[in-house]
Amino acid sequence: MQRSTPEKALVLTTSNRAYPAPERSAPAPAVAVPGWPGPEARERSSQLNCRSCRSASSTSSGSEAVLYLVITGSAGTIGTALINALVSDGHPIRALDLQVPEQAPPCVESLQVDIRNLAAVTAALAGATAVIHLAGITQEAPFPDLCENNILGTYHVLEAARRTGVPRVVLASSHHAVGLHPVNRALGPDTNPAPDTFYAVSKLAGEHLGYLYAHKHNLEVVAVRIGSFREQPTEPRHRHTWLSPRDGAALLRSAATAPLANPYTLVYGTSANNARWWPDAGWDDIGYQPRDNASDHPDLGPLIDRWQAANAQNTQVHSNATPLAGRAAST
Ligand SMILES: NC(=O)c1ccc[n+]([C@@H]2O[C@H](COP(=O)([O-])OP(=O)(O)OC[C@H]3O[C@@H](n4cnc5c(N)ncnc54)[C@H](O)[C@@H]3O)[C@@H](O)[C@H]2O)c1
Repeated sequence: MQRSTPEKALVLTTSNRAYPAPERSAPAPAVAVPGWPGPEARERSSQLNCRSCRSASSTSSGSEAVLYLVITGSAGTIGTALINALVSDGHPIRALDLQVPEQAPPCVESLQVDIRNLAAVTAALAGATAVIHLAGITQEAPFPDLCENNILGTYHVLEAARRTGVPRVVLASSHHAVGLHPVNRALGPDTNPAPDTFYAVSKLAGEHLGYLYAHKHNLEVVAVRIGSFREQPTEPRHRHTWLSPRDGAALLRSAATAPLANPYTLVYGTSANNARWWPDAGWDDIGYQPRDNASDHPDLGPLIDRWQAANAQNTQVHSNATPLAGRAAST
């Protein structure tokens, strides 16, 4: 039932795709915004993205240049954990969400922003060096709601980044993008998507928007198909899918800051689980080194095959599906 550790493989790039990259537009002009870095500071910070400039971007004390991070969905589970992990770095963070926390660390500026509003997102992104886009609906929902919050919302983040010259966008995608692949099929980085829900379709649309903006509008985009972000693994499936808060923060930070070889990078987001289902392609490229492992939590019980159970109850539902071992369960 368990998937063996996948082989190391190449990260998804233009060359792996069947369709040609569209023409690229000229980079957007840098925008100056009060209280947020001007073009010069951002230029210095963006040099972090270039290996050869890394030493030049260091300050006289040897520390790296300041990053100006925007995090959407900052009040959510991952956003909260990420901010807690990142504040110790001292980089200024602009936190966007429908909900604004009553208290925030000193270097965090919390703004109530609905990602369905392009003008508001554009104003909030101006001057940033990277945006980590987490906001949206995070489970199955009516398709029109997913279109508005997840697809249109992601378009707004990418378009706002283009308009304001934010060089790097990290997109929170989901493992549900491949949720209908049987567990006994080895997945490589080039394996076709197999979305298991409307939610998964909305996440795939976000990935493809990221690809388009990376190749046509000079953005650097990293899409992360997040596994199961939990404090601890709590169910058998998490042996394969768990992403610990410590590793999740490290992964998203790397995705936002690492020098990239390609404009668009797609990675899976799990801890270093011995039994992980998905390839680790791209981890080395962005310098992600997970430290936690679901195997260190042995008492998770047997894996329940939810699709087989559903089939047993109603042969009309998923009648063509091979065992999926609960991939269609919640995040
Ligand atoms: N938690 C997981 O295990 C997991 C797994 C796979 C993918 N993901 C993805 O990671 C991201 C973050 O997940 P999470 O667990 O922190 O979710 P969450 O539901 O805890 O947080 C989502 C946040 O987005 C905000 N939001 C929703 N719609 C918004 C809008 N229109 N404008 C502004 N803010 C809005 C919500 O207020 C909430 O604070 C999501 O995109 C999710 O799809 C999470």
